[in-house]
Amino acid sequence: MQTLQSVPGPVLLVGAGKMGGALLEGWLSRGLPPALVAVRDPSTSVELAKLLASKRIARDPQPPLLPNHAAVVIAVKPQEAAHVISEVSRFVGPETVVISVMAGRPITFLARHLPRNAAIVRAMPNTPASVGRGITVAVPNTKVKPQHRDLAHALLSATGPVEWIKNEKLMDAVTAVSGSGPAYVFLLAESLARAGVAAGLPKPLADKLARETVSGAGELLRRSDLDPSKLRENVTSKGGTTEAALKILMSKSGFDPALKKAVAAAAKRSRELAK
Ligand SMILES: NC(=O)c1ccc[n+]([C@@H]2O[C@H](COP(=O)([O-])OP(=O)(O)OC[C@H]3O[C@@H](n4cnc5c(N)ncnc54)[C@H](OP(=O)(O)O)[C@@H]3O)[C@@H](O)[C@H]2O)c1
Repeated sequence: MQTLQSVPGPVLLVGAGKMGGALLEGWLSRGLPPALVAVRDPSTSVELAKLLASKRIARDPQPPLLPNHAAVVIAVKPQEAAHVISEVSRFVGPETVVISVMAGRPITFLARHLPRNAAIVRAMPNTPASVGRGITVAVPNTKVKPQHRDLAHALLSATGPVEWIKNEKLMDAVTAVSGSGPAYVFLLAESLARAGVAAGLPKPLADKLARETVSGAGELLRRSDLDPSKLRENVTSKGGTTEAALKILMSKSGFDPALKKAVAAAAKRSRELAK
C-alpha cells in the first residue's frame, strides 16, 4: 500500500484554493514530506502562504528537463482548466499520474490537453474535505497502472474515504449527490432554523438548535452501524411529535420527491457543463 511518507517522486499541486488547500493540509498532516511538494498558484490565501513558508514548500517550480513528478494534482476552477493543463503538461512524464478534482471536466477533455498516454484520475471530492471529513469518488483512465492508482488513493484519502468507480458516466450523479450534497444539508439547517423561528423561537436559539441538531445527527449517523431509516425510527414513537412531522416530510410532496428532483437537476447540469 502506498503511503504519503514514501511517495515515489515530487507532487505538484496546481491551484491551492479551498479544495487544493484542503488536500495540501491533509497531505502534510498525514506525513507527505514538504520537500516533495510544490505549489503553483498565483494568489494563495494569507493563511496558506504562511503554511507554505513555514514548511518551506516550493512555489511555482520550473518544469524539469525530464519530468519526474509522481503526481500532478489539478484543483483550479473548471473555466481555467484548458490553459492551466497545457501550462503544466511539461511536468507530466510516463510515471506521472495526473489527478483532477475539477467538476464537469471529463477524462477526454483532460487527455486532450495532456501528453499522449497520460495516466489520468478524475476525482470528485466535497467541501467537508476542509475538515478532513470529505468523501471522494475517483475514476481512472485506461493508462492508470496499479502504482498510479495507489498513489492517487493515498493523496485523495488525505481528506476522507475514497470510492473508485469504473464508469465515468456515474460522475454526474456522484457530483449531484456528494459533490453538491453538503449544500443540501446546509439548506436543511437553514430551513430548520427558519421553521423554529416560525414556531416561536428566538432566532439565535433556533439557529443554534438547527446547527447542533444537523451536525449531531450527522455524527451519530457516522458512528452508528445502523441504517439511517433505523436511526429515524429510533427517534419516532407511535403517535408522538416526530411522527406528526414525518407524516408531512414523508408525504408525496415531502423530502423524497424534492430531493429526487434536485439531484436530477444537478446531474443534468453536470452533463451540460461537461459538453
Ligand atoms: N470547493 C469544493 O467544494 C469543491 C468540491 C468538488 C470539486 N471542486 C473542484 O475543485 C476545483 C477548485 O475549486 P475551489 O473551490 O478550491 O476553487 P478556488 O478556491 O477558487 O481555488 C482555485 C485556485 O486556483 C488558482 N488558480 C487560478 N489560475 C491558476 C493558474 N493558472 N495556475 C495555478 N492556480 C491557479 C486560483 O487563484 P485565483 O483565486 O487568483 O483565481 C485559486 O487559488 C474546482 O475545479 C472545483 O470544481 C471543489
